[in-house]
Amino acid sequence: MPFADDVRAGLSATPKRLQPKYFYDELGSRLFEAICATPEYYLTRTEAAILEAAADEIAERSRPAVILEFGSGSAVKTRRLLEATLRRGGELTYVPVDISRSALHATEAALRAEYPRLTVAGIEADYPEALARLGARGAGTAGLRTLVLFLGSNIGNFDPPAALEFLGAIRNLVVEGDTLLLGTDLKKDRHILEAAYNDALGITAAFNLNLLVRINRQLGGRFDVRRFRHRAEYDEDRRCINMYLESMTDQRVRIDGLPLDVALAAGETIHTESSYKFSLADVEHMASRTGFAVETMWTDEREYFACSLLRAAPHGTPQRAR
Ligand code: TRP
Repeated sequence: MPFADDVRAGLSATPKRLQPKYFYDELGSRLFEAICATPEYYLTRTEAAILEAAADEIAERSRPAVILEFGSGSAVKTRRLLEATLRRGGELTYVPVDISRSALHATEAALRAEYPRLTVAGIEADYPEALARLGARGAGTAGLRTLVLFLGSNIGNFDPPAALEFLGAIRNLVVEGDTLLLGTDLKKDRHILEAAYNDALGITAAFNLNLLVRINRQLGGRFDVRRFRHRAEYDEDRRCINMYLESMTDQRVRIDGLPLDVALAAGETIHTESSYKFSLADVEHMASRTGFAVETMWTDEREYFACSLLRAAPHGTPQRAR
């Protein structure tokens, strides 16, 4: 079972770590939706406003017959793009990819009810598995113009080499002329960033701690969640937020289902996620390195967030040197 193997490997490593994809069980997906509604987490509402204003232009420029979204969640922001595309007429298929079965099924059902003309064909998988399945099936080929969505600054949850690898994999999935809409959180004052990942209500803390609750439920773990605290810190040099679960005491935790005994010292951390922040030049650089050309970039007034429409360049287009 991959969850068990990944937990064993991550909690046996130095420093300890757990993979962020495991946040999204049913409660985790709900808590993430709640994070998006906190006053501190400006990302979702800023991106939604950008998309709202740009939806018609995005639909006009990309003219998709297929919209493929990685990490669709509740697809609230996506609705503006679906509507703008449907208004243009023609057939449209929406392919949401999400690791959370509950979130995916709810989204599929809601969209089918809301948009009778839309074909919805979701994929319940993590990104690598979804890429493999889509590659085998030939997404975006068969002459169907494809728009890929990667929103919410989810690209920032990869480290920089993995981000390039993922964008390259998307480029290989589509054909020349297809488009990718990429949402990226921009570099800014550390206090604003740290508050976004440590909201006053403690919802992000609950979201992070829920990973331990999930290990308790699914793997027979014996974590006392009250002996851990959530931490989120901005690393200015690597321009990323790092999230941790910090042990508040010296403790040994048994995980019956593995089986494994985990020793933690007071102050020791388990790394659970990084969220890299970008400049507009970073986005352009990533695009050109992975076979895309930047067509348009939109930002909000405060320049907190950017949405970039990237177009798949011909294969073998000379790319800017490192
Ligand atoms: N893509 C989101 C981000 O990096 C994911 C996220 C937001 C997140 N808040 C979080 C992940 C808190 C874990 C915990 O902003």
